[in-house]
Amino acid sequence: MNRAVQIDQTGGPEQMKIVDAPVGEPGPNQIRIRHKAVGLNFIDVYQRTGLYPNTMPLRLGMEGSGIVEAVGPGVTHLKVGDRAAYASHPPGSYCDTRVMPATTVCKLPDAIDFDTGAAMMLKGLTAQYLLKRTLPQGGLKEGDFVLFHAAAGGVGLIACQWAKAMGLRLIGTAGSDAKCQLARELGAAHAINYAKEDFGARVKEITGGKGVKVVYDSVGKDTWDKSLDCLQPFGLMASFGNASGPVAPFAPGILGAKGSIYVTRQTLFTHMATRESTQAMADDLFGAVTSGKVKIRIDQRYPLEQVQQAHRDLEARKTTGCTILTL
Ligand SMILES: NC(=O)c1ccc[n+]([C@@H]2O[C@H](COP(=O)([O-])OP(=O)(O)OC[C@H]3O[C@@H](n4cnc5c(N)ncnc54)[C@H](OP(=O)(O)O)[C@@H]3O)[C@@H](O)[C@H]2O)c1
Repeated sequence: MNRAVQIDQTGGPEQMKIVDAPVGEPGPNQIRIRHKAVGLNFIDVYQRTGLYPNTMPLRLGMEGSGIVEAVGPGVTHLKVGDRAAYASHPPGSYCDTRVMPATTVCKLPDAIDFDTGAAMMLKGLTAQYLLKRTLPQGGLKEGDFVLFHAAAGGVGLIACQWAKAMGLRLIGTAGSDAKCQLARELGAAHAINYAKEDFGARVKEITGGKGVKVVYDSVGKDTWDKSLDCLQPFGLMASFGNASGPVAPFAPGILGAKGSIYVTRQTLFTHMATRESTQAMADDLFGAVTSGKVKIRIDQRYPLEQVQQAHRDLEARKTTGCTILTL
């Protein structure tokens, strides 16, 4: 049996069931990969609930690692037997084996094990494009303050470490004192428990009233308004997620009133549109991980059969760092 997690309609975690998914030969520019581990991401929740629409039935999952079993015509960067890892559209990584587009699949360096490979690609490449490619006017330099919400999560803990390595002063937010402690241990210069503290006031205090150059916001609805007030004039509001719900529509005039600030909504898959850009970002990530600058914490592991519980825990904010599904 080739196990795959499928939903026939959007809804709660109970919609996810394991089906037998026959797998064929790869077509042009495709590969077949036998997974060793699969990554869990918050985007999987958006797809399961229908916040991000897809046609049904839908196989879930956008991240994994494994061994290349077959290579279709036109694929030159991978061969049978290669160790590989990826973050990729279309969804469908919660499975034993799949056929998929090869463009975003990268050879995994020998020094990186399969579990780490499965945990780090979508989250690590996101931290990469945020900190290296999603920048305010004039860029970021050593000593600059940035605000990063949900800093103890999967993307968050990678960003804490990478920002520190870049010399940035990352102010993290998280929903408990224990999560704040973790963010600080992994490189956040400051951490604010936004469940009980006014993060806007604390950011002003920490920055001596000046505010930050960038806010990286994946929480969305609950943090949006106050985040705009944390920015310096001409600062950048970089929205990249909606864990608390989508941001409400707003009038652009507000951006002028708050100091001629910039707003962008970024998504990883624009950055990964080509093989070249994917590989360049992946090489940067692999370098950060193999050098020890960024450690990939896998704080939760669930067998594939327990995927419903994995989603419940992620949505209930019970997880920290990365989570994988084991096969
Ligand atoms: N646009 C992109 O390219 C891109 C790529 C990857 C990820 N993302 C986004 O980045 C975020 C982080 O992804 P991840 O997979 O690493 O997840 P994660 O950060 O491990 O988990 C989400 C975290 O969001 C926080 N949160 C705040 N309000 C929440 C709410 N109402 N319900 C649930 N969680 C809430 C929780 O941390 P606290 O308890 O500390 O608040 C929770 O642990 C997600 O929003 C994801 O969609 C975007």
